[in-house]
Amino acid sequence: MSRTPLIAGNWKMFKTGPEAVAAATSLAGLASDVADTDIMIAPAFLSLPLVSEAVAGSNVKLGVQNLFYENEGAYTGEVSAAMVKAAGADYAIIGHSERRQYFGETDDAVCRKVKASIDGGIIPILCIGETEVQREDGKTFSVLDKQISNGLNNFCSRDLSSLVIAYEPVWAIGTGKTATPDQVAEIHGNIRSLINKLFGNELAMSIRILYGGSVKPDNVSELMSLGDVDGALVGGASLDAETFIQIIRYDK
Ligand code: PGA
Repeated sequence: MSRTPLIAGNWKMFKTGPEAVAAATSLAGLASDVADTDIMIAPAFLSLPLVSEAVAGSNVKLGVQNLFYENEGAYTGEVSAAMVKAAGADYAIIGHSERRQYFGETDDAVCRKVKASIDGGIIPILCIGETEVQREDGKTFSVLDKQISNGLNNFCSRDLSSLVIAYEPVWAIGTGKTATPDQVAEIHGNIRSLINKLFGNELAMSIRILYGGSVKPDNVSELMSLGDVDGALVGGASLDAETFIQIIRYDK
């Protein structure tokens, strides 16, 4: 089964509204002839409506870096799937390691956010990854298995047809260290097997599994050449349109 590659940019807490519009406009121009690869950028919530206008009609789709699992209510400071959808987002990054680490996001909350995304017509990008200590302790596979089983608890495969998984080893995020191709191939193969075990072969074959963690123009081609890598989730190197387009055109 052919899976359309997805190259996704996570802008984290960078760029004011005007800066986000400038970068997104430039990216939309540079990416105008890209075919067969899905492109997404996730600016800060505040910039979303502005950036949505800037990329309207282009190849560049929008995402958010988080959302809350309730539809509406007295949840000070939170934003719902319906709100981000109305502001132009098609994707939501869920359970990023920075949210787990700094904001105490649990697998249970992640699971509810995945559900809220799907119910709201938003494609969830479920992030998983082990820390350096967990890897050194030989716990990588058990950590990832738990993040997936708990994060996707009580779903059936039909619900998950749009789901994207992003494997991001925590020790590789923003550090300049990338997992080796052998490590990535092994983990991605393992994730696909787990999806097969939990949800069956059809979802396992169609689900897109991205790699994230210090993806750059000079390492993306090798990562994308691995059979089970269907795209990249890119932080630092997505901030500059000229750099990010080189990642998007990894096969050129
Ligand atoms: P990085 O971030 O590309 O800067 O390592 C990746 C991410 O956090 O998604």
